[in-house]
Amino acid sequence: MTQGTLALNLQTTRRLPQTERELVGICLALIDGRSDLSGPERRLIAAGAIPEKSLSMAGEFRVEILKGGDPLGDSFIALRSAVSRRPAGAVFTPAWIVKPMVAWLKREGTPARIVDPGAGSGRYIMAAGEVFPAARLIGVESDPLGALMLRANLCVRGWIGRTEIIAGDYRCFVLPPCAGRTAFVGNPPYVRHHDISEAWKAWYSSGFAALGIKASSLAGLHLHFFLQTLLLARKGDFGAYVTSAEWLSVNYGSALRHLVVGGLGGLSLDVLDPSLEAFPGTSTTAAITCFRVGETSEPIRFRAVATPASLQGLTGGTPMARAALRPEARWSAALPIRGCLGADEIELGEVFRVHRGQVTGANRIWIAGPEAAALPDAVRFPTITKARELIAAGACLRSSDKLRCVVDLPADLAGFSDDERRRIDSFLKWAAGNGADQGYIARHRNAWWSVGLRAPAPILCTYMARRPPQFTLNACGARHINIAHGLYPRAPVDRAVLARLLAWLNENVTIGDGRVYAGGLTKFEPKEIERLRMPTLEHVAR
Ligand SMILES: C[S@@+](CC[C@H](N)C(=O)[O-])C[C@H]1O[C@@H](n2cnc3c(N)ncnc32)[C@H](O)[C@@H]1O
Repeated sequence: MTQGTLALNLQTTRRLPQTERELVGICLALIDGRSDLSGPERRLIAAGAIPEKSLSMAGEFRVEILKGGDPLGDSFIALRSAVSRRPAGAVFTPAWIVKPMVAWLKREGTPARIVDPGAGSGRYIMAAGEVFPAARLIGVESDPLGALMLRANLCVRGWIGRTEIIAGDYRCFVLPPCAGRTAFVGNPPYVRHHDISEAWKAWYSSGFAALGIKASSLAGLHLHFFLQTLLLARKGDFGAYVTSAEWLSVNYGSALRHLVVGGLGGLSLDVLDPSLEAFPGTSTTAAITCFRVGETSEPIRFRAVATPASLQGLTGGTPMARAALRPEARWSAALPIRGCLGADEIELGEVFRVHRGQVTGANRIWIAGPEAAALPDAVRFPTITKARELIAAGACLRSSDKLRCVVDLPADLAGFSDDERRRIDSFLKWAAGNGADQGYIARHRNAWWSVGLRAPAPILCTYMARRPPQFTLNACGARHINIAHGLYPRAPVDRAVLARLLAWLNENVTIGDGRVYAGGLTKFEPKEIERLRMPTLEHVAR
């Protein structure tokens, strides 16, 4: 049994809210008019009726909160599915991680205020509020329900008068100057770069550029939080964050590695064994980073943590001189960490973008049959339309001769000759007569007749079969529809290296790397292909 399930099993006596509206109602009853709500919280409350049942449940929640539990946070996690929480990276931290982190803060000093970025229901704020009774408490949380739970927890503890709750984005947060030290503590949200807007990616790289550090736009939101922390902090401020450990070993983590040896003043890195399930429900390896802003001389301690008990203190480990820790290198090599990338490994997504092929909306129309025979060659594209075509081709698809064609017309048909236009019109008349203009996909395209195939992908792969994906070099420039994924190099890759890499992928990717569905089908979504581990290109070239 993991620590997380143990905590849940102890809390079976209280009733559980059945909906998020009931949870909102419980929070409201616990706040009981003792605190002004932020705009986002008010809008959340106004968005629907509050079930009367909530009022009668609030008492049981109050008792449990006063005993040190987080029934609001537990209810939220039970009510909102992991899939719905993922875009905001909302995973709440178990007490066995929160407590040693707050204990570390206590050893480091007495802060005038505590900042918890991405506070959720306030597990860190609650723990820190107890340990530092004189400190001001600041929780920043973008989810209005998170902010409301935090407020309710603070009201029950009687701490609302020493608190500020900011219901907004941590990257927009402004921290006014204060006389004493500020401690930052929390679990910054893990959101992958695919779900981060271009504007925030630009904020991230220009923020690092101003510090003289080159930063990759592939970084996740937790790295944005580290940057914002440094921007807000003053020399002597300190903190502890738990995050996924991947930044220690991937290329896009190098900017944060720069911060940790440099301005952020990293003091220790405790990497938790994946079997500890630091973030229940995810199979992530977690790392706790403790820092003292501006510290440049103390060595940084590295430690692999195998049990919750050995986490206590966050003080053990092997000291490493800062000068020996090169940010460009993978730090997981200094400490062989299970679940982390090794020295010569990267994620495939660092080298390739992976895109599912285009959905035609009606293969019987757009995969060229006899009715398309008269169309100009320029609108008939040889295409992979069945996974078995890649499996039959093996490592290299040399010729498109045996492939079927997909009809892909431009949205603007003005450029064709009169004769070509006549043939196209006749085909489109047949297609419309067979409902091709009526489907959901067709109605949501710029022009219903324009399928919009992607450019030929240098590597194609299958993604759903009772076998590992087949990776195939696309030597003949075939297109692909949604039965295959295309791998597009982010920067040019030497053809010989590509061929070697392909051989490696075909030999080493197993179905255990994908998501297994009932019935044994294994599916690799594009993001899952991007997360596959592979050797660095330099390693492949050797
Ligand atoms: C990993 S959870 C941690 C919650 C809580 N601190 C804990 O450890 O139990 C991250 C939290 O950050 C919030 N969040 C996500 N993006 C945010 C942003 N840009 N600014 C502030 N909070 C954000 C999520 O809603 C979520 O509650």
